[in-house]
Order: sequence, then C-alpha cells, then structure tokens
Amino acid sequence: MENGNEYIAILDYGSQYTQLIARRIREKNVLSKIFPCGASAAAVAGPGLKGVILSGGPESVFAEGAPGVDAGIFGLGVPVLGICYGMQLMAKHLGGVVEPGDVREYGRARVETDPGCGLFDGIPPSFTAWASHGDRVAALPPGFSRAASSAGCPAAAMQDASRRLYAIQFHPEVAHTEHGAEIVSNFLSRICGCKGDWRMSGWIDSTVRSLKERIGDSEVVLGLSGGVDSSVAAALLDRAIGPRLHCIFVDNGLLRAGEAEKVAAAFGERFSFDLRVVRAGERFFRALAGKTDPEEKRKAVGREFVSVFSAEAGKLRSCRFLAQGTIYPDVIESSNVAGAASHTIKSHHNVGGLPGDMQFELVEPLRDLFKDEVRAVGRELGLAPEFIDRQPFPGPGLAVRIIGEVTPEKAELLRQADLRVREETGKPGVRDGIWQAFAVLLPVKTVGVMGDRRTYEHVCAVRCVDSSDAMTADWTRLPFDTLAEISRRIANEVPGINRVVYDITSKPPATIEWE
Ligand code: XMP
Repeated sequence: MENGNEYIAILDYGSQYTQLIARRIREKNVLSKIFPCGASAAAVAGPGLKGVILSGGPESVFAEGAPGVDAGIFGLGVPVLGICYGMQLMAKHLGGVVEPGDVREYGRARVETDPGCGLFDGIPPSFTAWASHGDRVAALPPGFSRAASSAGCPAAAMQDASRRLYAIQFHPEVAHTEHGAEIVSNFLSRICGCKGDWRMSGWIDSTVRSLKERIGDSEVVLGLSGGVDSSVAAALLDRAIGPRLHCIFVDNGLLRAGEAEKVAAAFGERFSFDLRVVRAGERFFRALAGKTDPEEKRKAVGREFVSVFSAEAGKLRSCRFLAQGTIYPDVIESSNVAGAASHTIKSHHNVGGLPGDMQFELVEPLRDLFKDEVRAVGRELGLAPEFIDRQPFPGPGLAVRIIGEVTPEKAELLRQADLRVREETGKPGVRDGIWQAFAVLLPVKTVGVMGDRRTYEHVCAVRCVDSSDAMTADWTRLPFDTLAEISRRIANEVPGINRVVYDITSKPPATIEWE
C-alpha cells in the first residue's frame, strides 16, 4: 500500500504488543506497517517513510542468536524510536552498555521525565507506565542523554535529538501507561513531522487508483465466500474495474439457510462485477460420504473446493490476476509482512494448491488493514450491514457442525435448527456483541414424546460464545427466555430433532466449533 502515503515502519521483535503499536499509530491517522525484525533498511525505506520504531520483544539482547538490527536503519535519515527490547538493542548497537537489572520491572512503574525531550512535551513530569523487562541500559551510547528514569531503571528513556534517535524502556502503546497515546502522538507529529492525513476515504481513493494502474485492461478472478474480507475486497475491486472482476461463489451445500441467495441478491443489485454461483453441493456430499473423522472431513471439503474453484477459474482464460481478501493479521501470522506486492501464487488457505499450470498474479488489496478497518472500508463502499457485521463462519461450513457422517438430510436439519438459533439470538435486546451463535447436530438420538406419540430423534446442541478474537471464548449467558424460545422452536418446527441442549464450555478447554 504505497500510494504515496506517509508511514511509520515498525520492526517487529516479537512483542505481544507490536500490533498495538500499529493500531495506536493508525488511530493518529498515520499509516503504520509492520516489518520482520530482520528487514533491511532498503526493505523498510519508501517515499513516504517518516520514522522507524523498533518494537519490544521476548528476548534478551544477551541471548545467543538474539535478533539485531540492520545498521542502515539508523542511516535512513528518519527518526528512530526504540521501545523496551528496541531501546536495549539501540543502546547496544550504538555503543552503550546493557546489563541485567537488579530489579526487574514487570507491570506498573513510576516514570520521572527529565526536561527537554520532545517525546514528553505537554505531559506531566511524573506518571505511571507499564513496563516488562529484566535487562536495562546501564550506560548510554555516546551522544545520548537521559530523558526519563524509574525506580528499577535509571535510564527509562534516552535521546540523541541531533540524530533524532529516541528510546523508552516502558510501553507507551498499552492502555495502562498514562499519557501513552500522547507520547506516541509526540513522536509522530513533533519528531517525525507526520501530517496525520491518512483517512479511510483517502485510502479507498488511492487504493482504487493503484489497482486500476496495476490491473490495466486485464481481468481478475476472486473467490467470494460471503465473509467480510472477500466481500470488501470484491466491493473495492468493483470500484476499480467493475465488470472485469469475476467472482466465483461456491455453494458447497454446507452453507447456512439462505446464504447463497443473500450473496447473489446483495452483490447482484449493488455491484457490476460478474458473479458466478457454482452449485456444487452434490460433489461435496459425495466427497464426504462415509467420513467421520473431523480432519478427514475438513480435508475433503478443502480438496473439493480447490477442484471446483480451479475448474471455474480455468474457464476464465482472460484473467491474469487472482484477488484474495487477505488482511493484515493473516499477513503478520504468516510472517510474510514485507512480502512483495506482487508474486505468483500456488497455495493459500482458501485456494490452497491450485494446479501448477494455473499461474495468477496475486492481488491483495486489503493486506495492510486490520479487521475493523476492513469493516470501515466496506461501510464506505456501501456494503449491506449484514455483510459487514456478520459472524465468522468456518470454511468447511456445516460439515464441522454435523458430528459424524455428513449427509444432505442432516445438513438440511441443521440448517433449519441453526436458522432458529440465529433468529432468536439476533432479536433486539437479547445480547449485543455475541461473537458466534449456531447449532450443532449430534449423532445421537433420544426418546421424546409429542402428542401421545413416542419419538426417537436427533439431539441438537446450541453454541453461543463471547469473544474478541476467537483465541479464547466464554459461553454466552443468554437469557433463559431466549434459551427456552430456541428450544421450543427447534423441537416444534424442525421435524427430526426432539431435544436441545446448551453448550456451557469455554475455550479453552473446548474450541468454539465442535470439530
Ligand atoms: P475454534 O473452533 O478453533 O474456532 O475455536 C476459532 C474460530 O475460527 C473459526 N473456524 C474456521 N474458520 N476455516 C475458517 O475459515 C476453518 O476451517 C475454521 N475452523 C474454525 C471458528 O468459526 C471460530 O470463529
């Protein structure tokens, strides 16, 4: 995402807070980009580079193989800020002395600032900060002066204003550090001279411009899943190239009730790209027949998807590009952060293992955005709210929510139960912010009674969780009346299910999905 934007480069030394630094910077309307710690000065440099941040990290600079820094980073002519490990690295690299501290600082630390450091302009001289370190800078490198101290750390901050090098031992990016946001802001505006003019609408305009330039008269194919990321990517490309975008939506027979129709209606009306809905349910059910092992089921669905998608994309001989809805956290996870904007793809988590003779150039217009930024772009592009705020839905779809063998009949049973769970939990006032609410079909039948008739039918479990990132989750304390209504409706309205149970397990030890 060059687009001429000013940006701050963050070298990631593995701190759990690196993404937070990136967020804090973007909140100040400055673009931030995370690079692997080994990135060279040349990889980091760009026309809009305004400053570099060396993040914290779990290592000690004394550890064997501890990550270093390319000396060229200090010669880029832009300010550099080291945070925690980044400070120790800067000190060691520039001739200072780092040693293990007598007192380790983990958690709150009282910081006293010295006058005259731009980082602390407008901030009270004493404040509470969040620190997390064992080592500390014992002697400053030549040319540096101390800028702050704390009980466990005589040099809690240092600067060499003439070379525009700054470092702090505590973490300004975490919410527990008082005035942390102002420190970040001071670095951006006073020290790096950032204008802070990075806006989502501007981002859309410049991204559309660069997509147009890059794609030219060529055509693009995109696998549209109906999830937020691929939907926003499609909307963005639609703005850039309209009908020269070909979206393939694979209906694998394992979607939720009304999903394929909703996607076709929502996109067909509002956008001009070519949407191809491939109804391939039968193939997927054939591939799943007789399989009960969760991993085998996932693999079967994945294989089938690749083969259906490739066959359809293969018909689009004119397409030079394959677009994907990859977003920033995906990029960071696969630690390919500084990856080139354009490379040929052969595998991906969605389109993994396209046949070798299908060579596309990859277009990933969202690869620099966080999830909420992707949502903001979607809103601005006029995507329906239900596409923007939708709950995550796994790629293998209902196959991982039908425990045991998957059949078309079971899929339909589950679709009907699931619809009722979503309708009831989606009612106003039930509970805002549910992460996911869905039904699971169990391979267990139990005895019931309806009218005066004995029934012997399936059990359905209701799973509803609160989470912020799906890494951990707790079961939602749904109102009893909602649970009662879900149970009443499923047992009465879905023939084939006569018992409903509620999953009250958190993650960990369970996972969100049952398979
Ligand atoms: P678990 O079950 O591991 O799920 O707690 C965490 C989150 O990931 C979603 N999920 C998937 N998403 N493909 C996906 O695209 C998958 O194979 C898959 N498996 C789980 C799940 O719905 C939850 O939000």
